[in-house]
Amino acid sequence: MVLVNTGKNQESKLPSSLADHLGEVLELCDASLRRTAERWGADEPAPIWTEAGKWYRQPDMWTDWTPGFYAGQMWVLHKLLKDDFWAARAREQSAALLPRRHDRDVHDLGFIFLSSYGRWLDQAAEDDPIRKELVDTIVTAATVQSERWNGATDEGFIYSFNGPQSLFIDVMMNVRLLFWAAANGADPGVGERAIEHSRTSASYLVRCDGEGLGETDGSVAHEAIFNTEEGRGEFRCLSTQQGYSPFTCWARGLAWALYGYAYAWGASGHGEFLETAHRCARYYLLNTPGDCVPYWDYGAPGIPDEPRDSSAAAIAGCGLMLLADLDPGAGGAESYRRTAIEIATTLSGDEYLGPKREGEEGLLLGGVYHRPRGWGVGGAVMWGDYFFLELIERLLGLDDEDLRPLGPGECPVRLEKPAD
Ligand code: GLY
Repeated sequence: MVLVNTGKNQESKLPSSLADHLGEVLELCDASLRRTAERWGADEPAPIWTEAGKWYRQPDMWTDWTPGFYAGQMWVLHKLLKDDFWAARAREQSAALLPRRHDRDVHDLGFIFLSSYGRWLDQAAEDDPIRKELVDTIVTAATVQSERWNGATDEGFIYSFNGPQSLFIDVMMNVRLLFWAAANGADPGVGERAIEHSRTSASYLVRCDGEGLGETDGSVAHEAIFNTEEGRGEFRCLSTQQGYSPFTCWARGLAWALYGYAYAWGASGHGEFLETAHRCARYYLLNTPGDCVPYWDYGAPGIPDEPRDSSAAAIAGCGLMLLADLDPGAGGAESYRRTAIEIATTLSGDEYLGPKREGEEGLLLGGVYHRPRGWGVGGAVMWGDYFFLELIERLLGLDDEDLRPLGPGECPVRLEKPAD
């Protein structure tokens, strides 16, 4: 199998042994995902996590926030391996998601559409007439997502699937869709909501030294609860769904924030988002164990006997790479890249790499979906596999300008710059 677009730049910061290793890992992932694709076609809902090594889908998973990551893996493999098998499968798997653009019950349309339709658009030829349809789909999904709005105060936000009272940190990844759409024909209000949401999330969910929420700078809370009545929409308390407690830092939430704020900065030019992304990145670097894979919650009481969350590491690695690319002059940029390389080294080793294990269907082991409910703990999770491949894509991009930055589905398109 031929790996394209790597190895041109002799000054690559990626050690050549790791680049070679990641090339081999991609081939293993390609073979593994082909086997999965034979069993889980586009005519049935995608699986979500593995149980005893086998892909599994919980029957009543109404939120269904992960199928875009299944299509997304196929798009990454197509981009890196240039194999038409994947283009056809990725188109089919993405097209099956089209009805979700009108889904008003979830806050996850960014997860669903950027990795599927966004990547489809990235890889469609400039003269392909499908492009207009793809853009329309993404803009529609973003507009629908923006209407999930709690505007009871001037600190509005896109509310979570729990209801208008609930602000989740995860949504920082989904507002990427709004930023993208605002730069590509959506109503300007869509972009304004993306900015306001990002501000509100930073104020209530990303902790600062010395402020009311206390604790460690850059640590992230999962959920904030607000009153919903017009005129008295004030903050009530912190909460969590998947973390250990409202007052600890759920590792995947931190990773979503790090990546989401880096993107928000790239898309909007608002310095406060850049500062927030750096705070989250510093927290990750300072508080994650030496192999760069966090425990599922930084405050979990049984550390070091708590599970790690490899999916959080993969997302954080992508966020660190994005932040280093967008702010290359920052003091931390080199340590962000080194950490992302360290994450990829750990995740592509024997402990985490699924295709090296007999009977394992997932790519990245050691993920955690929902520790309090015991869902998907220790095996692969669909988004973990996706961000693992995206991390490989970003790292191989160090070798080749053609691969960096990612295209419009995944990379910020700068909106109008704010006045200083
Ligand atoms: N719902 C997003 C997550 O579990 O991270």
